[in-house]
Amino acid sequence: MLVCGLDFGTSNTAVALPSGEVLKLDVTAPSPRLFRSVLFFPEDSKETLAGHAAIERYQEDNAGRFIQSMKTWLPATTFTRTQLRGRTLSLEELIAVFLRRVRSLASDSAGADVASVVLGRPARFSADPKVDAFAEERLRKAAELAGFSGIRFVIEPIAAALTYEATLEKDEAVLVADFGAGTTDLTVMHLGPSRRGRADRRDDVVASSGVYVGGDRFDSAIMKSALLPYFGQGSTYAVSMGSQRMPMPTYISSRLLSWNEMSLIREKTTRELIDTMLKSSDRLPAIQALEDLVMENLGFRLYRAIEQAKVELSTKKTARIDFEEARISIHETITVEAFEAASAHLIDELEACTDELMERLPKGLHIDSVFLTGGSSQVPAVQRLFAKKFGKGKLRTADAFTSVVEGLGRAAASSFSE
Ligand SMILES: Nc1ncnc2c1ncn2[C@@H]1O[C@H](COP(=O)(O)OP(=O)(O)OP(=O)(O)O)[C@@H](O)[C@H]1O
Ligand SMILES: [Mg+2]
Repeated sequence: MLVCGLDFGTSNTAVALPSGEVLKLDVTAPSPRLFRSVLFFPEDSKETLAGHAAIERYQEDNAGRFIQSMKTWLPATTFTRTQLRGRTLSLEELIAVFLRRVRSLASDSAGADVASVVLGRPARFSADPKVDAFAEERLRKAAELAGFSGIRFVIEPIAAALTYEATLEKDEAVLVADFGAGTTDLTVMHLGPSRRGRADRRDDVVASSGVYVGGDRFDSAIMKSALLPYFGQGSTYAVSMGSQRMPMPTYISSRLLSWNEMSLIREKTTRELIDTMLKSSDRLPAIQALEDLVMENLGFRLYRAIEQAKVELSTKKTARIDFEEARISIHETITVEAFEAASAHLIDELEACTDELMERLPKGLHIDSVFLTGGSSQVPAVQRLFAKKFGKGKLRTADAFTSVVEGLGRAAASSFSE
């Protein structure tokens, strides 16, 4: 029986041993230690696929239900149930399907049953304490349903801090910033050799904060600034039987900004509107592209192409989006300047959240270093913001994708020993 650290991320999930070693959950995946937080329920079989296998199958044939970003629904009080293969599943049950698979793969990889977990959670699921507690309780329930018997929570940036702490030779006051797919979490914490190994580190946390800025919103920013015209934004159509023309409603474009919401366009009223636009649009090819994007479920593929371009823009000056599917034909070059202009509001939100946190620190507290982690910490504008605020010399990094889970593993070493 093993106790492990489990980072259930918006886009990636990982499991680590108490030594901090991250387990290889799926050796067939391009990154075996990162298990994509997705499920696919194909229409024509009873199989349930998770992680990389779910993505592969969905790419081959997208008939069925593909589920991603489950974590972001935890604080959504209106999201309680969903219909799947004729059954009603609660969100907890749905997440449990995923976590059960992770538990089984982790147990195979470790060669022993992973019975208990130290589970990461964002610094804030919600600013409303009631909603925050509700979200944590749902995650706990999901982990129980997945078969974990002991469950403890550690805040994700605290977990990342423990990974950074393992490298420290003297005590420091550190700002830990974890930029994930869904959220950014900020925590100021005392770290170092004199505190290492304590079971409960909550007393070492000076202040923390969080904001819903993450990789998913950077992707949306690219969609919004560069790709919406391909799907009819700015086009007009004739209202039935009249000569009056109307612009395509903005709610359609705004639903295209989140992959999860795109499926809502398939609702009857919106489908009827698309049919009307198909008859009279001044930009028919764009409305045909919209119809195919939504009806043929191509949103996931499109967002992968967008994400790929965003990742390239972390190291290059330009990136191409070439996307040819059904009647969609996108050939676009995105420059770093255009990407940064489109996502400037996200950097502003990060700055405001950081400033608010700094104002709450006790007078005289001096930040010795800033530890940046999470996949979105690789966005150059994010790094520049923190270099500007704290000085480049104070910035520290490690493996952006595994520092949270490594720390959760380390926390597992002391957490269940009391
Ligand atoms: N090189 C890169 N440049 C910019 N963004 C990147 C890069 N590599 C990955 N990302 C983004 O990082 C995000 C995934 O990071 P990470 O695995 O830390 O998130 P997560 O833990 O799943 O999410 P959360 O912590 O919010 O629940 C994705 O949005 C991905 O597009
Ligand atoms: Mg994360």
